[in-house]
Amino acid sequence: MSQILVSMDGITKQFPGVLALDQCRFELRAGEVHALVGENGAGKSTMMKILTGVYTKDAGRIVYKGKEVEIAHTKAAQNLGIGIIHQELQLMPDLTIAQNIFIGREPRTKFPLFLDDNELNGRTQALFEQMNLKLDPRTLVSELTVAKQQMVEIAKALSFKSEVLIMDEPTAALTNAEIDELFRMITQLREQGVGIVYISHRMEELKRITDRITVMRDGCYVDTVRTDEATIDAIISMMVGRQIYSTSKPSIDGSGQQTKVLEVQRLSRGNAVKDVSFHLNKGEIVGFAGLMGAGRTEVARAIFGADPIDSGEILVNGKSVSIKGPNDAVRCGIGYLSEDRKQFGLLVDMDVKTNISIASYRSFRNPFGWMKQAKMERNAEAHVASLKIKTPNVDQKVKFLSGGNQQKVVIGKWLTRDCQILMIDEPTRGIDVGAKSEIYKLLDELVQQGKSIIMISSELPEILRMSHRIIVMCEGRITGELSSAEATQEAIMKFATMRVEEEAK
Ligand SMILES: Nc1ncnc2c1ncn2[C@@H]1O[C@H](COP(=O)(O)OP(=O)(O)OP(=O)(O)O)[C@@H](O)[C@H]1O
Ligand SMILES: [Mg+2]
Repeated sequence: MSQILVSMDGITKQFPGVLALDQCRFELRAGEVHALVGENGAGKSTMMKILTGVYTKDAGRIVYKGKEVEIAHTKAAQNLGIGIIHQELQLMPDLTIAQNIFIGREPRTKFPLFLDDNELNGRTQALFEQMNLKLDPRTLVSELTVAKQQMVEIAKALSFKSEVLIMDEPTAALTNAEIDELFRMITQLREQGVGIVYISHRMEELKRITDRITVMRDGCYVDTVRTDEATIDAIISMMVGRQIYSTSKPSIDGSGQQTKVLEVQRLSRGNAVKDVSFHLNKGEIVGFAGLMGAGRTEVARAIFGADPIDSGEILVNGKSVSIKGPNDAVRCGIGYLSEDRKQFGLLVDMDVKTNISIASYRSFRNPFGWMKQAKMERNAEAHVASLKIKTPNVDQKVKFLSGGNQQKVVIGKWLTRDCQILMIDEPTRGIDVGAKSEIYKLLDELVQQGKSIIMISSELPEILRMSHRIIVMCEGRITGELSSAEATQEAIMKFATMRVEEEAK
């Protein structure tokens, strides 16, 4: 057995109103990939934030390479060689990649007042070569996709020569090819003796990449098992301790009359959306599949009025509508649950109640313009209960909720708005298996009530399980459409990689 790098024991952490960790423990050896799993709000991120000095523990011991240590701030963790890639990416959008990686420790010229940009970019380049990454160190982070930003975060953590590397849901926003790349990197690091903590809600990844799995539930330690000795079902039942809702494939009644609630005709926007036409029926879930960057989010944003379109027509209930901005879309009964909850979905400094009410503030305003606090509160409480949002009360600021619970707040917000057409973008990203099934159940209920849903998802099993019809995109175009009966992972992937050659102009 290899050396024990980290051992945490009796770790307790109390936040106002929440006992996030209750005498929890965790152990990491050199050269192992150790998964930390548990439902949303179980305390995984908090445990790792304590190890990296983001939070201080109320009680417990941390032993690092045989010595008890106090990790009072993030710098202390870095000095020990403990690096973390946080669940919510933390790069500065207005700086370049290289500036982000070396922020606070930029190389200087022989005149110490001046930064040495060549050295900065050169070191970054060297790091990228080691990682086999093709990125220009001078690119602004704001120009990168979420996936690329993730890679930059990894490069940054590696630049500290970390012996312990913590990855908090690293694959949530990655494509399959990028995940393979990440796993290759993880394997390489493991061989060098780095200990890796791997937090993920994607059960199938655990088998592929991890050596051991520690399960947490409600802030408590449950068990640590060897991956090759555990089944995924056993892990899930340790995590949730209850039965999970499972749907059968949906079947829409093909005999009845189908009413088109939404028709999109020849929608185009620059290179991102090219000549996209499709329709959505009442009571239907249409899944949008495709690789990252295929243009699915761009289509949703264009329909929602978040981005201006170059050409095309949108019809709601058979009538042509002009959508110039999100307000117009909401007025037409269209809601959009964005993939990036931090940027578009949530006001993280506001409380749960306000976030849930904000898209429908009109219905909470009395004739004098005041907000009906009690009504807002009742509504928020109902959603907190039905979505099982883990929060001490509806007055908690959203930034204090765990990642998955923040996602549920966004869903609650659009449910409150009562939209006829709901576009949901990666609705279960970062959501635990139990909560995922709750969300599937909710979507099923919504369509049974006659609502219509466009679901964008990169998880093929989810698309296959939930959609009545599947539209596949590649490079801004629709390359195929499949009924739920004919859809398979292979058929979807075939369309998702089908490039349409540009016609000669
Ligand atoms: N700064 C904070 N202030 C108050 N409560 C917090 C704070 N950080 C976390 N919590 C609470 O502590 C609990 C554990 O949260 P944590 O983020 O560790 O969960 P997690 O297991 O990482 O969940 P997820 O899978 O959703 O990311 C949650 O109930 C959360 O709301
Ligand atoms: Mg977390």
